[in-house]
Amino acid sequence: MADRIEVMYSEEEVNKKILELGRQITEEFRGKEITMICILKGAAAFACELAKRIDLPVELEFMRCSSYGNETESSGVVKIDLDLDRPIRGKNVLIVEDIIDTGRTMSYLMDILHDRGPASLRLCALLDKPDRRVADVKIDYTGFVIPDEFVVGYGLDYAQKYRNLPYIGIVRPEV
Ligand code: IMP
Ligand code: MG
Repeated sequence: MADRIEVMYSEEEVNKKILELGRQITEEFRGKEITMICILKGAAAFACELAKRIDLPVELEFMRCSSYGNETESSGVVKIDLDLDRPIRGKNVLIVEDIIDTGRTMSYLMDILHDRGPASLRLCALLDKPDRRVADVKIDYTGFVIPDEFVVGYGLDYAQKYRNLPYIGIVRPEV
């Protein structure tokens, strides 16, 4: 049976938010080059759209991590499946993530990246789900703060599905 997706943020709302974030980042990084680290797979759609809205030189890099856990909850034990292929020492790094939930993944990843000596390290997340936070994470640029719902679309998946939806929605399984 197909799931029903209830729209939380429409394509227009998401695009408008990304435009705003792009402008804000452009202002705050003025005069600098940005090394954007897109966290695969979830942040791919968001990072590409955001990069287009930043009016500064942007190097686009990719990392992929997995957290041992089940489908909907990370454990905090994070494994780097795909690492950067270049050093970030002295770079102005902007991590781009789809969603910060418990915060475990990002708190671990930011520690690792911090140790590599970037000039600055900032975090941009399309979504923030603060209700379930257990690890402290400072989000410098947030798209939307959402309630404790499992969301899909705009890169986010449920069992690898729905990443290609152009909007953000809540999965309502058919009964
Ligand atoms: P955290 O370590 O709990 O913050 O986990 C963050 C990761 O869990 C995200 O990068 C997503 O891959 C996944 N995740 C958390 N909440 C959702 C959701 O509502 N929809 C889809 N993926 C989610
Ligand atoms: Mg993710």
